[in-house]
Amino acid sequence: MTLEEAARAVRARAHAPYSGFKVGAALRAASGAIYAGCNVENASYPEGTCAEAGAIAAMVAAGETEIAEVFVIGDAAEPVAPCGGCRQRLSEFAGPEVPVTMANLAGATRQVTLGELLPGAFARVSLPRG
Ligand code: THU
Repeated sequence: MTLEEAARAVRARAHAPYSGFKVGAALRAASGAIYAGCNVENASYPEGTCAEAGAIAAMVAAGETEIAEVFVIGDAAEPVAPCGGCRQRLSEFAGPEVPVTMANLAGATRQVTLGELLPGAFARVSLPRG
């Protein structure tokens, strides 16, 4: 299964009754394994979680902490970009060189690096006890 196939498949299972905007994210970890996540919204709107957060949680739960590649997909006119919070979440486990492919259901894609999406990321080394 490709990252795109995994992201498309998990997107279909998103729980997005409030925004109506289903998102799928798939990560390839250092081992080569793929971890996928979808957005899960909540009646208390701020409690919803993004697709990327779900994929990261699946990866960490499986014992991995290094992201090699990211794919995000949604049904939009343009390829779907990870939100600011998810750029920060990804940067915890991915270096600035990691490729992030944004896509829409129509097949448009745009590939950038995480460093391009989040230059100057706040990181562990910024912390006093980093
Ligand atoms: N969403 C994601 O899952 N990932 C992103 O990077 C962009 C936004 C979700 C959050 C919310 O459930 C819906 O898309 C509308 O913002």
